[in-house]
Amino acid sequence: MKNSINHINELRKNKNAIILAHYYQIPEIQDIADYVGDSLGLAREAEKTDADIIVFAGVHFMAETAKILNPDKKVLIPDTQAGCSLADSCPPKEFEEFIKQYPDHMVITYVNATAEIKALSDIIVTSSNAKRIVEQLPLDQKIVFAPDKNLGTYINNISGRNMVLWDGSCHVHNQLELDHILKLKIDNPNIPLIAHPECQAPILEIAEFVGSTNALLNYTRNDSENKYIVATEGGILHQMKKHSPNKEFIIVPSDELCNCNDCEYMKMNTLDKILHVLQNEINEVTLHEELITKAYKPLKRMLEMS
Ligand code: 13P
Ligand code: SF4
Repeated sequence: MKNSINHINELRKNKNAIILAHYYQIPEIQDIADYVGDSLGLAREAEKTDADIIVFAGVHFMAETAKILNPDKKVLIPDTQAGCSLADSCPPKEFEEFIKQYPDHMVITYVNATAEIKALSDIIVTSSNAKRIVEQLPLDQKIVFAPDKNLGTYINNISGRNMVLWDGSCHVHNQLELDHILKLKIDNPNIPLIAHPECQAPILEIAEFVGSTNALLNYTRNDSENKYIVATEGGILHQMKKHSPNKEFIIVPSDELCNCNDCEYMKMNTLDKILHVLQNEINEVTLHEELITKAYKPLKRMLEMS
């Protein structure tokens, strides 16, 4: 491992490259990244970097977002198979037909979507800024929200809106069960539950705090409790433990047999794959110019509104 890290460090310096990593990456990757963050933070970082190469340790839609915001840079992904079940739950052809039924609606799309879906949208949001952006629109503005029905339901519930929702979800968050959580709550009385808004409504309703990966991390850093039940992907625990070494974190398990909740796409990336793509400059994200132009507008609008 030390050899791979030394080699990665030498290459990123010589090639003016940066490594951006999402909080769900394995700890070894988070520890060598130039920046670790949530979707919004990563998009902002991708927009402002002056590196020539961005190695994006996350999933495909995130690397695409970096490319759309920075078309002149080389964006490399460690594993081309690192997709996202939520992005896949919204195929462009079906979505185009769907929004035709709502011609007077604005289309707001969660960033976990392909470039084609972004290009069909008016504004992109992330779990960090979705509420803030929706609240900036007039109350009578009709909205279609895609692709995550759980985040959409959550925003509807807290903002009193009635957005039309696309029926998509993330398999990692959607599988978390209220029964598991209630049992954890009984075994750990008075311990707060913190949850990502991709979880289902009954879980979000009983959570003491709901937020993006970054918001959950900040909550555990600034709050005075010393133990939390965490309903999101397990990768976030690395930063939580790093920032609050004396606190305890219980991840809501995906099933009764594990103490884990992993996104298999996020976990496809490894240090060796990062080294390999950096060395050979392969797995580059390429998008047609026209698609980049169309997808850029709603992304730029998000960055301006958040
Ligand atoms: P964040 O925007 O909170 O980082 O979430 C991204 C994601 O893929 C959650 O499953
Ligand atoms: Fe996509 Fe879910 Fe994995 Fe996030 S956790 S990248 S939404 S599949």
